[in-house]
Amino acid sequence: MRQSDIYKLHQKYSHGKYKDKVLQIVWTHSLIVKNISLQIAENLEKEFGIKVDKNLIEAGALLHDIGFYDCFDDDYKKICQYVRHGKMGYDILIKEKISRKKARFALTHVGVGINKEQIEKEKIDFPKGNYVPISLEEEIVAYADNFHSKGHPGFNLFEESLEELNNINPDYGVIFKRFKEKFGLPDLKEMQNKYKKWHEEINEWVDSVK
Ligand SMILES: [Fe+2]
Repeated sequence: MRQSDIYKLHQKYSHGKYKDKVLQIVWTHSLIVKNISLQIAENLEKEFGIKVDKNLIEAGALLHDIGFYDCFDDDYKKICQYVRHGKMGYDILIKEKISRKKARFALTHVGVGINKEQIEKEKIDFPKGNYVPISLEEEIVAYADNFHSKGHPGFNLFEESLEELNNINPDYGVIFKRFKEKFGLPDLKEMQNKYKKWHEEINEWVDSVK
């Protein structure tokens, strides 16, 4: 799947008064998650000789947040439980005839994956199931996603995401720590420099509309 085709899909689903800005946020975040994921994949290969499907990782990282747009109204106000964007994204991708293998990246990326117990506890409005990463590729994208935020765009330290996950469910913190043991910590320095100016500008805009 070509990057330009995935971008077109994002253009199709971004909507409302600020559609270009929101598209820019989600797409830039997706590119960042792609880069972090590929970095992890390359490390796995170098350190352990474990090869993962990099094309699948690229597509999965670029598609994973396609459900984000529908969580907001035309004024960029949140209109749904945010955790639902994973399942919503999965449904969109299936409707768009994207393979289940790729669509699963949307379904399983939220936090470290959501389990049945949490769906009940949080009264999440979608069918009960364990929406957790299964393949290494899915795990890598879910893990990488925790190092960058879209709400107030910026990079997150491991400890910051760990605290957030622990606050939701300590089980999630355990899984996140296991991911770190498997995949290590990504080197974000280069990306932090590359996107510094973009973050400053986009957050000025985010602050002005929120
Ligand atoms: Fe994401």
